[in-house]
Amino acid sequence: MVLTMQYVLSNREFDLFRTLIYKTSGISLNLSKKELVKARLSKRLTKTGIDSFGEYYRFVTRDDKNGDELVNLIDSISTNKTDFFREKKHFDFLNAKLLPDLISKKEKDRNKKLRIWCAASSTGEEPYTLAMTVLNHINTDSLWDAKILATDISTKVLQKAIRGIYKKDTLKDISPAILSTYFSSVVIDNVKHYKVKDHLKKLITFRRFNLTTANFPFKNPFDFIFCRNVMIYFDSDTQQRLVSKFYDCLPKGGYLFVGHSETLSKNIHGFKYIKPAVYQK
Ligand SMILES: C[S@@+](CC[C@H](N)C(=O)[O-])C[C@H]1O[C@@H](n2cnc3c(N)ncnc32)[C@H](O)[C@@H]1O
Repeated sequence: MVLTMQYVLSNREFDLFRTLIYKTSGISLNLSKKELVKARLSKRLTKTGIDSFGEYYRFVTRDDKNGDELVNLIDSISTNKTDFFREKKHFDFLNAKLLPDLISKKEKDRNKKLRIWCAASSTGEEPYTLAMTVLNHINTDSLWDAKILATDISTKVLQKAIRGIYKKDTLKDISPAILSTYFSSVVIDNVKHYKVKDHLKKLITFRRFNLTTANFPFKNPFDFIFCRNVMIYFDSDTQQRLVSKFYDCLPKGGYLFVGHSETLSKNIHGFKYIKPAVYQK
């Protein structure tokens, strides 16, 4: 039997944690999230064998010199929900307009390079969907150099993404033809799973990257950026700083995709609205 300890989180301690979480990740939490924070951090207390939130806070901010527990804390707070072909309209737009236009322009310019950034890639479903979509258009031409950078702040989700093994259920809406092209079936603990094939995986580089980093290290621009369903967790200052950094990472004509429940506030950024949750520099 697993015993769940009941720890007490005072409002003052909640304030300390939410300030730490905000400073570290940009994730903005108000008092309505106290129970959620308490539930998620309680698991870290149990795991580390620490008896109280006060002691855990001191450990994270003072005693844990290599910062590993701060990474675990952020891992436990971040919401990682994602799906293959989530918000399908974006992939329809890539197929019908963006990729055909971009590819024919690059072919004319004799520059067969595609650079895509999936900026909050969670457990991998989104960058793998992007890779499948790109291969729809360039699969038969080996001269194309296509790369997808997939980043997330959470090491836990990145590990799952790199492993590239998904339960059968998560792929239920994917056609059998796509499944057999890009996945092989594996049985783990008597349950059928699908494993991403290497020719899909090799398009993607997974890296830990915090979107609140002051200076982005990217030297070359991306053709388009997906940053979906993460800005909702940021306050508007953090969102605006991020959007202006994305702007600097795109060439003129480059696209930014956000989640359908997210909008960029008008007049602050230089992007043109194209369609719901799609903006162009
Ligand atoms: C809800 S998921 C969205 C996944 C995917 N983009 C989608 O739309 O399906 C949000 C992801 O953002 C990540 N995240 C949160 N704060 C972040 C930050 N400051 N920098 C990078 N990633 C962050 C979380 O770890 C989580 O995996």
